[in-house]
Amino acid sequence: MRYCGLFLVLGLVAAMGISRAADLPPRESYQRPADIPSPPSNPLTIEKVTLGKTLFFDPRLSRDGAMSCATCHSPNMRWSDGRVLPLKADGVPNARRTPTVLNSAWLNALMWDGRAASLEAQAVLPITTAHEMNFEMPLLLDRLKEVAGYQPLFTQAFGDAEITPKRVTQALASFQRTLVSKTAPFDRWVAGDENAISENAKRGFALFEGKANCVSCHKSWRFTEDAFHDIGLESLDPGRGAKVPSQLVLMQHAFKTPSLRDLPKNGPFMHDGSMHSLEEVIKHYEQGGVQRESLSQEMKPFELSDVERAYLIDFIHTLDGGPLDMEFPNLPE
Ligand code: HEC
Ligand code: HEC
Repeated sequence: MRYCGLFLVLGLVAAMGISRAADLPPRESYQRPADIPSPPSNPLTIEKVTLGKTLFFDPRLSRDGAMSCATCHSPNMRWSDGRVLPLKADGVPNARRTPTVLNSAWLNALMWDGRAASLEAQAVLPITTAHEMNFEMPLLLDRLKEVAGYQPLFTQAFGDAEITPKRVTQALASFQRTLVSKTAPFDRWVAGDENAISENAKRGFALFEGKANCVSCHKSWRFTEDAFHDIGLESLDPGRGAKVPSQLVLMQHAFKTPSLRDLPKNGPFMHDGSMHSLEEVIKHYEQGGVQRESLSQEMKPFELSDVERAYLIDFIHTLDGGPLDMEFPNLPE
């Protein structure tokens, strides 16, 4: 099936006589994958997903019982929170904007600076971080054990009712892996439907791969190559620079390239939530960013006309498949 689709697309591209420059990614590199990946140590099962979804929406995972994962990763906000900086416990600064958890099954470096290596490892961090859920794993386990309704959910997912940190994080990871962008107009175009996106959006895509050179970092069906760059924002946050040896100049102020799928209309965008429209984002790239030693070598100034900028925005809008259909779980008593 997978290969049939691929050859169909290649065939169509050939039939349409579209020739692509040798150094551009081939059109099929934008094809959506057929399956959701999961690690052998935590294969995806419906029962784990059900448990994970319940935990994700349950505010009892925070110390004061007021904050769930979904408080900051809300289905109504494209799995982020619509805020420049997230809610926080009094007085504790939280300097980075909440990223989406959509398509997180494909992440191999998590957090803006890549400090977590898997969804399983990441899930402990928000629960125990002071300015987030501010809880402790042993206390959380005690609390969950007192909720009788969790016992059947753990039994169905793991074979018995034992509640362990590993099981909590495996279930949360499993649920998040099922949050996958819906098919967007761009996907239908890649699959061969010429009318799925407008002529202006196609011009925008040509700019994206051409003069604007967005594609040097925003690659693949998720529109990221999962690497870290300093794109020259004013923010003084060292980003990945604080995590890796400081002789790696290019990692100073470097943050993970985010996906461009299903972006919220007016952002906020960037790790510091400093931008509020795609127009503002594109003008930043045109201008080339703050000149400093760590600035990515791919950040070269260029100029777009107002019309070209509008084409590029039309293209980015074709990456929007709309919100996921999500029913809120009943929280167990
Ligand atoms: C107070 C708001 C808040 C809460 C609550 C919260 N998160 Fe987050 N989440 C964030 C922020 C902010 C980041 C980015 C932090 C950074 O990179 O330094 C993040 C990052 C993530 C990431 C990494 C995404 C990526 O692109 O790298 C995942 C996955 C995630 N959170 C899952 C969860 C889960 C699971 C829970 C519940 C156990 C949760 N979050 C609770 C704010 C929150
Ligand atoms: C050098 C690599 C690179 C290039 C080139 C690049 N980007 Fe980015 N992009 C990034 C990184 C890294 C971030 C996050 C930066 C941060 O928050 O510090 C980002 C963030 C964004 C965001 C915000 C997404 C969000 O969720 O906050 C948008 C939109 C975006 N880029 C669009 C574009 C467009 C359009 C172009 C071409 C004009 C482009 N990018 C070129 C690496 C790049």
